[in-house]
Amino acid sequence: MKLILLGPPGAGKGTQAKMLAEYYQIPQISTGDILRTAVKDGTPMGVKAKGHMDAGSLVPDDVVVGIVRERLQQADCAKGFILDGFPRTVPQADALQNALADLGKNLDAVISLEVDLEALVERLTGRRTCRDCGKGFHVRFDPPAVAGKCDACGGELVQRDDDREETIRKRLDVYRAQTEPLAAYYGDAGILHSVDGMQDIQVVKANILETLTAK
Ligand code: AP5
Ligand code: MG
Ligand code: ZN
Repeated sequence: MKLILLGPPGAGKGTQAKMLAEYYQIPQISTGDILRTAVKDGTPMGVKAKGHMDAGSLVPDDVVVGIVRERLQQADCAKGFILDGFPRTVPQADALQNALADLGKNLDAVISLEVDLEALVERLTGRRTCRDCGKGFHVRFDPPAVAGKCDACGGELVQRDDDREETIRKRLDVYRAQTEPLAAYYGDAGILHSVDGMQDIQVVKANILETLTAK
């Protein structure tokens, strides 16, 4: 399965990508996660990306295209992959087409997670992520058994630096201006499938799997 998860900040891309990766036994490729690791490790790429991420704007196309191009060549992508948070601009989508063509591959589907704008801010302000294993939670919608502690590994749950309300608003504006046009891009290509992202997490997962099986 070669899949893109499309949707605004907080739509549930990461939540669903992790579950689908497990289901299909293929890697989740989250450019956001890769960039956050680079920032944490202080690599040259991380240093370059940090200012853009803290401001809620996009990291330059050439940086993220380079990351994905390299990642798709790795052996674990042979059976498929789930792209989470990439592409985010039309030039990134064009670059992805080229990279896949070079590898002799085609996308199977683009799943667009549809979520009301008002719900996104609450999802992002309540999001918590495990510092050690990266598992995601929500204080209200997907709470851990013990507040502040990861169910999977006991690690400390932290908030993302860009999940402050003013940065969230900026990320939503950037999404509307630069990423939303990709729905038409993939609609024209005939591989776009919309899924209602307002349902319960497990219901969204079931609907995605049903969509992918039916197509
Ligand atoms: P990135 O990390 O990709 O962030 P994003 O797109 O803003 O999306 P999020 O990760 O915030 O949301 P999500 O859809 O994954 O939601 P989640 O599943 O966590 O990018 C961050 C930054 O990196 C960008 O701003 C940019 O600077 C840079 N960047 C990354 N990729 C780039 C690219 N390609 N080009 C340029 N720059 C790039 O869910 C959110 C919360 O809601 C969680 O708490 C979850 O538990 C909860 N939740 C999930 N589903 C449900 C549900 N169905 N019901 C109730 N709650 C739910
Ligand atoms: Mg995410
Ligand atoms: Zn953990």
